Amino acid sequence: MKLLVTGGAGFIGACFVRQTIADTNDEVVVLDSLTYAGNLENLAGLEESGRFKFVRGSICDPEAVEEAIEGCDAVLNFAAETHVDRSITDPGIFVETNVQGPRVLMSAAQTRKLRYLQVSTDEVYGSLGPDGYFYETTPLDPSSPYAASKASADLLVGAYITTFGLDAVITRCGNNYGPYQFPEKLIPLFITNALEGRELPLYGDGLNVRDWIHVEDHARAIRTVLEKGETGKAYNVSAGGELNNRQICERILEILGKPWDLVRFVDDRPGHDRRYALDATLLRTELGWEPQVRFDAGMQGTIDFYRDNTQWWERIKSGEYMNYYDRMYAQRLADSDPQPSGQGVHT
Ligand SMILES: NC(=O)c1ccc[n+]([C@@H]2O[C@H](COP(=O)([O-])OP(=O)(O)OC[C@H]3O[C@@H](n4cnc5c(N)ncnc54)[C@H](O)[C@@H]3O)[C@@H](O)[C@H]2O)c1
Repeated sequence: MKLLVTGGAGFIGACFVRQTIADTNDEVVVLDSLTYAGNLENLAGLEESGRFKFVRGSICDPEAVEEAIEGCDAVLNFAAETHVDRSITDPGIFVETNVQGPRVLMSAAQTRKLRYLQVSTDEVYGSLGPDGYFYETTPLDPSSPYAASKASADLLVGAYITTFGLDAVITRCGNNYGPYQFPEKLIPLFITNALEGRELPLYGDGLNVRDWIHVEDHARAIRTVLEKGETGKAYNVSAGGELNNRQICERILEILGKPWDLVRFVDDRPGHDRRYALDATLLRTELGWEPQVRFDAGMQGTIDFYRDNTQWWERIKSGEYMNYYDRMYAQRLADSDPQPSGQGVHT
């Protein structure tokens, strides 16, 4: 099979591509515009396989998509703007990339009768109280502009299936952690800040609960849904790893042998969802996927990665790796908000 993987230079897409090249004979074409979050270092060495090609371009650009999709058998869309805090500061780019982009991709997939997989998120369901779970049938009720843009794309996928007969499936996963995650997100931000002896900025009371999963388990789930998922269905992806942000902080500090007084409580994010928890029975029973990485082992491996690869994240945090969009974003933040950037964490 030859796969078009969009957003393959980001955290989850790159993991999926590395896994695909290592575990299958598939060819992979990555289409990525290399925003601040895209990093070719995440894909280093894959050319040697002879089954990997990188195309720089936007999923919103029909010409770039035409070039990249040539000869492909399926399209997997990982490309997105993904940071909730950025979506509060600058929602426009989220609508452009996360809604218009999937439309362009689906039109191209539909013309060629290709399978389309939309990588979505549990954030489309909104917020849960202390009990219960999100099911695939739970109505979409997004809180942030990021979540609303992802929910919009999910609805558009449904419309392409119903109206045009597109062969499409959706995955909705909880919070990922693992190597190569951009250090604006909670776990890599806290690990790298702790390694640098800097503060860990914790939103609100720190009791927001997320459903954590190792990125390799998510990538394997996406492969499973690509191969076995029923057209028109969405599949929740969860390893049952519910933890609140305070517990995440405690684990990180404990493994690194750092004191709790590095933690600084900061004002809560507007519209901050309280709890996410997914029921993934469908994926497990109908498609036979099971998570393989236990949280403690996954977290130890993740911390080892950031400890052993300081160059990778120091370049990003120092701004040396920042591209135009990120500088623009930093400038807007500075213009609109006198708070120091880096307070925000995506959970
Ligand atoms: N990170 C999580 O915890 C999580 C959980 C559930 C679902 N998801 C979804 O998984 C997908 C990947 O998330 P991630 O954490 O790897 O994101 P990321 O921010 O690390 O990477 C996003 C990638 O998309 C690329 N990109 C952005 N705009 C583009 C455009 N217009 N054209 C082409 N490429 C573009 C970026 O350059 C980057 O390589 C997203 O769709 C996200 O909504 C993420």
